[in-house]
Amino acid sequence: MSVVPQHIAIIMDGNGRWARKRFMPRVAGHSRGLESVRAVVKACVERGIEYLTLFAFSSENWRRPADEVSFLMQLFMRALRKEVARLDHNGIRLRVIGDMSRFDPELVRIIRESEEKTAGNGKLNLCVAANYGGRWDIANAVSSLMQAHPERRDGFSEEELAGALSMNFAPEPDLFIRTGGEKRISNFMLWQLAYTELYFTDTLWPDFDAATLDEAIASYKGRERRFGRTSEQLIGRTDQKGAAPHA
Ligand code: IPE
Ligand code: IPE
Ligand code: MG
Repeated sequence: MSVVPQHIAIIMDGNGRWARKRFMPRVAGHSRGLESVRAVVKACVERGIEYLTLFAFSSENWRRPADEVSFLMQLFMRALRKEVARLDHNGIRLRVIGDMSRFDPELVRIIRESEEKTAGNGKLNLCVAANYGGRWDIANAVSSLMQAHPERRDGFSEEELAGALSMNFAPEPDLFIRTGGEKRISNFMLWQLAYTELYFTDTLWPDFDAATLDEAIASYKGRERRFGRTSEQLIGRTDQKGAAPHA
């Protein structure tokens, strides 16, 4: 494949270990991780990536010590306050997905304000998954479909379900990256990752930058996406769902 991925989804993992290796508190790793977010957003704009989705806080991360959870919430709030003008200036549209019901109302207000401020932008669609879980997303989609169609007795199609998910505005990720060495999905976009190319790296998130992103993209470009077809069938195909194999 010669094209860059249209949508990259990243599990930004390894902040705590990055800090621990330096005898620093875990939260210092989260602060440093924010610098990687800046670097990767910039690199994605420069490379013409259309969608970047970042897993910032999972449904399960509430299980962490209260002071770490509260640090992460504060960091998120500070980052939004500080960065949104810059995102807007660079033509980036921000969306936040996840269950906001447990968030401080002030944080929810800033999230909504940031989304509105950048709603007219289209250079890069930056999506932050916060208090997000793939299972929550699917359960939520089913509930909303049932509420919207109480008369329906024969269930819903895959298209209807996909359209009710919180990422319904984006194509499915082409490339999934997980930093920090773990080889698992940790309840990230369960539905949409069905045919995504997976890339795992030992690099800890605070050490991830444009160069390590390029390694992931290079790995992606070397893959053959068959979507169930045979290699032979792909020759000459140029559409998204089965582009011509890498020569
Ligand atoms: C990822 O880094 C950030 C969040 C989950 C918020 P971790 O905090 O999980 O770092 P490790 O995995 O403990 O090193
Ligand atoms: C996944 O990382 C969630 C985020 C990066 C936000 P975790 O560090 O929470 O994942 P597990 O618990 O090791 O699977
Ligand atoms: Mg982790």
